[in-house]
Amino acid sequence: MPQPDTLVLYCRAGFESECATELTERAAQAGFYGYPKFERNSGYACFHLAAPGSALALVQAIEFRSLIFTRQWIASFPCLEELPTKDRLTPIGRLVAELPQCSELLVEAADTTEGRELQGFCRKFGSALASYLRQQGMLLPRKQRADWRLHLFVLSGQRMWLGVSPVRNGSPWPMGIERLKFPADAPSRSTLKLEEAWHWFVPRSQWDSRLAGGMRAVDLGAAPGGWTWQLVKRGMFVTAVDNGPMSPQLMDSGQVEHRREDAFVFQPGKPVDWMVCDVVEKPARTAAMVIDWALNGWAREMIFNLKLPMKQRYREAEQCLRRIVAALEEAGVGFRLEARQLYHDREEITCWLMLAPGR
Ligand SMILES: C[S@@+](CC[C@H](N)C(=O)[O-])C[C@H]1O[C@@H](n2cnc3c(N)ncnc32)[C@H](O)[C@@H]1O
Repeated sequence: MPQPDTLVLYCRAGFESECATELTERAAQAGFYGYPKFERNSGYACFHLAAPGSALALVQAIEFRSLIFTRQWIASFPCLEELPTKDRLTPIGRLVAELPQCSELLVEAADTTEGRELQGFCRKFGSALASYLRQQGMLLPRKQRADWRLHLFVLSGQRMWLGVSPVRNGSPWPMGIERLKFPADAPSRSTLKLEEAWHWFVPRSQWDSRLAGGMRAVDLGAAPGGWTWQLVKRGMFVTAVDNGPMSPQLMDSGQVEHRREDAFVFQPGKPVDWMVCDVVEKPARTAAMVIDWALNGWAREMIFNLKLPMKQRYREAEQCLRRIVAALEEAGVGFRLEARQLYHDREEITCWLMLAPGR
C-alpha cells in the first residue's frame, strides 16, 4: 500500500522555487529530510520525504502560518497516474480509507490557466466523489468536526494528488485563496491587498479593538488611496504620504490629511496606531525604514510590502526579515513579525509587525 510521503504545496505561479526552498529548509530544521521537485509556472511544488509515510507528521511539525510562499499544503500519497476514466471512485476510495478521517472534501486545481480550465471538472467530480465517500462511510457528515481536510489536487482527468491538511494548521480557503470582492468605490485594486492582509494577520474577533474607529494611521506611498480607503472605512484618521494625487472622494471624507512628502523621510508628530506602506522600493530600504519606525515606537502595528527582486527572491525576503528581527531583538523590543505572499501580492510579500504594548 502506498503511503503519504509527499507534501504538495500550492503557491503563486512563478514562485515554485521559493516555495520549495523555504519548505525544504524548514523541514530540515524540524528534522525531516527529502527533496523538492517542481515545474516552473505550474502553481505548485512537491517535497518528497525520505521516510515513508512521514508527510502527516511534517504538516504537524511546522507551523503553517510561518511559511511565506505556501498557500496551502497537503500530505499526499504519490501522484495517482492513469486513473481509469470508467471508475476513478474505487481506487481513490481505497486510498482515502488509509487517511485520517475528514468531514470536508476539497477538489482543487492549480491557480494557473490550465488549472482554471479544470474547475468545471473539479466541481462535478468533487460532488460525485463526496457522495460516494459519504455513502461508504469514508467521509464524515459535513457538520461533524474533524482534525483533517481531505484534498484532491487535480492535474488532469487521469492525474491527481490525494492527501489531507490539518484543519488547525493550514489555510481555511479552497486552493488557499481568500476571495474578496472588489469594493466598487475604492480608488484602486491595491485596496484588496490591505484587506486580505488584515484577514490573514488580524483575527476577526479582534477587528473592533485593533482596527477601531477613531484610531490614527499613516499610509506611506498612499496614492491614489486604495489602502487609505480601507483605513477610512474602519473609521480611522489617516495621514496619507505621497507626492501623487489622492482620490478626491476619499479626501472629501474629512478623515484624510494628504502630505506630499518622501515616505522615507516622513516622521509622525506623535505615535500612531497603524503604519502601512505600499511604496515600490528596494526591500532592504523598506526594512530599514520599518526598523526605524519600530525603534522609535512611531506605530503599534505595521503592514508593509517587501517588493521582491527578479533573482534570489527567497533569500532577499529572508534576509530583510532577519534584519528586522535582529535589530529589534538587539534593542530589547518585544514584537511579533509574520510574512506571507498573499493572493493579491504579485512580485512581493506582505509583512505584519506588532510591537509589544507598554513600550
Ligand atoms: C503601489 S502604489 C500605492 C498604491 C496604494 N497603496 C493604493 O492602494 O492606492 C505606490 C505609491 O508609492 C509612491 N511612492 C514611491 N516612492 C515614494 C516615496 N519615496 N515617498 C512617498 N511615496 C512614494 C508612488 O507615488 C505611488 O503612488
